[in-house]
Amino acid sequence: MNRGKLLLKSFGCQMNKLDSSLVTAALQQAGYELTESVREADVVLINTCSVRGHAEDRVLSNLGHLKHLKKTRPELVVAVIGCMAQRLGNELLRHPAVDLVAGPAQLPQVPDLIARLRDQHEKVLAVTADIRRPVSEADDQSLDRFEQEYDSDANPLPGQAFIRIMRGCNKFCSYCVVPYVRGPEQSRSAGAIVEQARKLADRGIRQVTLLGQTVNSYKHAEGDRTITLVDLIERISRIDGIHWIRFITSHPHPFDERIFRAMADNPKICRYLHIPAQSGSDRILKAMNRGYTADEYIRLIDRARQIVPDLAVAGDFIVGFPGETDEDFELTCELVRQIRYKTCFIFKYSPRPGTRADQKLADSVPEEVKKKRNITLLDLQNQISEQDNPRFIGQSVEIFVEGPSKNPHLNASEIQTLPQLVGRTGSDSIVVFTGPATLAGTFQSVRITKTSALTLFGELISTFKS
Ligand code: SAH
Ligand code: SF4
Ligand code: F3S
Repeated sequence: MNRGKLLLKSFGCQMNKLDSSLVTAALQQAGYELTESVREADVVLINTCSVRGHAEDRVLSNLGHLKHLKKTRPELVVAVIGCMAQRLGNELLRHPAVDLVAGPAQLPQVPDLIARLRDQHEKVLAVTADIRRPVSEADDQSLDRFEQEYDSDANPLPGQAFIRIMRGCNKFCSYCVVPYVRGPEQSRSAGAIVEQARKLADRGIRQVTLLGQTVNSYKHAEGDRTITLVDLIERISRIDGIHWIRFITSHPHPFDERIFRAMADNPKICRYLHIPAQSGSDRILKAMNRGYTADEYIRLIDRARQIVPDLAVAGDFIVGFPGETDEDFELTCELVRQIRYKTCFIFKYSPRPGTRADQKLADSVPEEVKKKRNITLLDLQNQISEQDNPRFIGQSVEIFVEGPSKNPHLNASEIQTLPQLVGRTGSDSIVVFTGPATLAGTFQSVRITKTSALTLFGELISTFKS
């Protein structure tokens, strides 16, 4: 049945993007067609993030536009889902543009709620009342079914899929809103995850990325055994069609060294670790409630590199946390220099209502100082990447091809007649090269000829002419 056109806007992390793909697939199955144009849309679905104020501001500004549009098109349905929906609930529902507010745990209900709304024209609120209470057995099963039913088909990258292996977070880093919007940590059953990976492999998926806020805390009881992340990865790696397995995001404490050994021994496990440090100052790390010192973090990465010498490490940092002095910031720079990350994601501290940092500490670092520290740290990481990437020149690397590159990277003379494609190495380096678009979703070898801070450029080695 044709129900009209759906416009989806997604503002969050990988976890949110997965939610967006699942709910889009469900709505397509319910009869909606996707559109990119708000003028054409019958339903606008906004999947939101609360992690920083800026993410919420972007949603509010979108809602402002939609409010105007609804003056001339009152039948337009606007549904707000995700973390900001869970955080603000009724407050968001009172916004004149908003018809439906649904939290991450209510995802499976969204298609029915939209149908009800279009039928009855009454605003709908569907969020979790007590977010820190584990979801009921029935809701847990419904989330799991939803996850199993709508997996790979909705993923925009051919041959790749994301699998959520756990929900929520129990770490309570003092600055972070996630535990208050995604609820307590809950690992999915290993059996269900492996089954899902097998089904995906049968449909042509070759690379899976396991998702969790603290993915290395994965723990699931199976009889009297506890299945941990390393056990789960080993099981998935026994599936014939799956060639590469990634997992994000890791927390530095506690970290099970067996994961490094598995990476060293098992060629299917990508040699890539996204393991945020957040700061290099012990004083700040303590105030952040991260549970480790800078020295412990450095020792962990040293150990990882002893076992997996070519391991690529990515990290996140927050600059301008309350009370962060120039000395604290210099310790962060020192940590970045010592670790030599492949990539760093750097964020300016943003106070989040309801978190301990916001309740107890004043947002004391001025915006200009945050901005300056952000730029300094980015520059430092860029220098490191510029210095480290040329070691790839002349090497042939195996990549999984994602598809046509969105940005024109190569000179016109280099492009010839073939499109520019983009792929990633197992260690998550981005590789741009020319080749036929039909290579999307396949593994290829590329010889690297040139590098920049963010990208490797190369030539396809594999014979693709035949
Ligand atoms: N679960 C993941 C990441 C969660 S959010 C982890 O623990 O690593 C992604 C990143 O956003 C965090 O790593 C942190 O660097 C940043 N972040 C979280 N809360 C923030 C805040 N209040 N202000 C600025 N950055 C924040
Ligand atoms: Fe937030 Fe910390 Fe949990 Fe990551 S580990 S989601 S930063 S509370
Ligand atoms: Fe992700 Fe943002 Fe929610 S980072 S878990 S979408 S608050």
